Amino acid sequence: MPVIGVLILENLFEKQMAKNTVFLNKDIISPHYIPKNLPFRENQINEVTQYLGPVLNDSKPNNFFLYGKTGAGKTATVKHVLEQLNDFIKKHDKKVCSCYVNCRSHPSKYKVLLKTLRSIYPEKDFLGYSSSFVYEKLLEFSNEKKMHTILVLDEIDKVKDVDELIYSLSRGNDELNNGSLSVIGISNNLTFKEKLDPRTKSSLCEREMVFSPYNANELKEILKERTSKAFKEGTVNDEAISLAAALAAQESGDARTAVMLLQRAGEIADSEQLNIIDDSLVEKAKVSVEEEIIISMISTLPEQQQLVLYAIAQLSLQKPTFTKVNGEVEKGVLFSGEIFESYLDLAKKFDQRTITSRWYRQYINELEMYGLIFVTNSGKGIKGQTRLIKLGFDPEKIKSALEKELFKSF
Ligand SMILES: Nc1ncnc2c1ncn2[C@@H]1O[C@H](COP(=O)(O)OP(=O)(O)O)[C@@H](O)[C@H]1O
Ligand SMILES: [Mg+2]
Repeated sequence: MPVIGVLILENLFEKQMAKNTVFLNKDIISPHYIPKNLPFRENQINEVTQYLGPVLNDSKPNNFFLYGKTGAGKTATVKHVLEQLNDFIKKHDKKVCSCYVNCRSHPSKYKVLLKTLRSIYPEKDFLGYSSSFVYEKLLEFSNEKKMHTILVLDEIDKVKDVDELIYSLSRGNDELNNGSLSVIGISNNLTFKEKLDPRTKSSLCEREMVFSPYNANELKEILKERTSKAFKEGTVNDEAISLAAALAAQESGDARTAVMLLQRAGEIADSEQLNIIDDSLVEKAKVSVEEEIIISMISTLPEQQQLVLYAIAQLSLQKPTFTKVNGEVEKGVLFSGEIFESYLDLAKKFDQRTITSRWYRQYINELEMYGLIFVTNSGKGIKGQTRLIKLGFDPEKIKSALEKELFKSF
């Protein structure tokens, strides 16, 4: 018998399960979890609900475009309303169907349409069917079944041929004798709308809503609610919650960062076998969460913008110091022009088309908005007026994250 006792204790999972944990239900503090209750988003939830109301009385809703910075609760809000809509449709047998597509995983017109068709007919895979077949099949579904189809396109800015997608969908809708096809587009990119073809813009943005970032107090409330369900009582102290909220408020009011900080702090507590999550653990969590967020952000940039950032990282490593007019020496400061030249060389090496200098400036502005780089004006003196650019993070880390992305797609 003692032999069996030893064997059980030596089993890896027995040991793992015998360890203490601060979590009560770890899923609830995952950024993918959609809470039933979304504080500070009551108005947005009402607006989306009101907008969808008429479809239940057989009339086509306008297209709707929701945007705002990452972690402002757009996805959670829309998914929450869709859940309620689906419950209602089932109960009252309405001719309405909704389909949620995350365009980050389906980044082209064809892939979006295919994903939609597959969720309508889950038993078929439609593999190898042409784009026009998939499109016709989708229209046929609405027409023959007199169905109002609501297509939710989350992270719609990731669709390469988004103008064509929106054009096809609105033309398709016009051709329908019965039912309808409408789009709810969602984007984290504040400048996406301006890049659209004017026709796409007026079609997609028939109605609009902006989600503003949460402030530190709102984030604190959100975190309190989530932690009370995700962690065992008494394991997360108030300072930890306040610090996570304050850090995330600095990072543009992003609730995802806030949630991830506490999730990671909990994981650190478990691995170090601590019973309490305090602010020092949140500080520790910050480093690894920041890295994860940067890498995920980089992976979603368009290829050409990744190359621009790659040029910046590479030059920062090659040219580590820079002397200002006043004699001050700074590390890693680059001229906008030299980055553009280095980008052109890289693009040639990768055998890519190149962007114009106007687009280059736009990409630089966006990288600054995402907090990946800092941009300042040189003032008079150096090559006339030029923009000085500095990487916001460790160039080695950015470069290796980009290499993983770029070598995957080239
Ligand atoms: N009002 C809220 N209450 C509770 N959790 C929220 C709230 N807003 C956002 N979250 C959480 O923050 C994270 C990011 O929200 P999400 O809806 O994905 O943001 P977005 O789509 O705007 O980038 C998710 O884990 C989500 O559940
Ligand atoms: Mg989202």
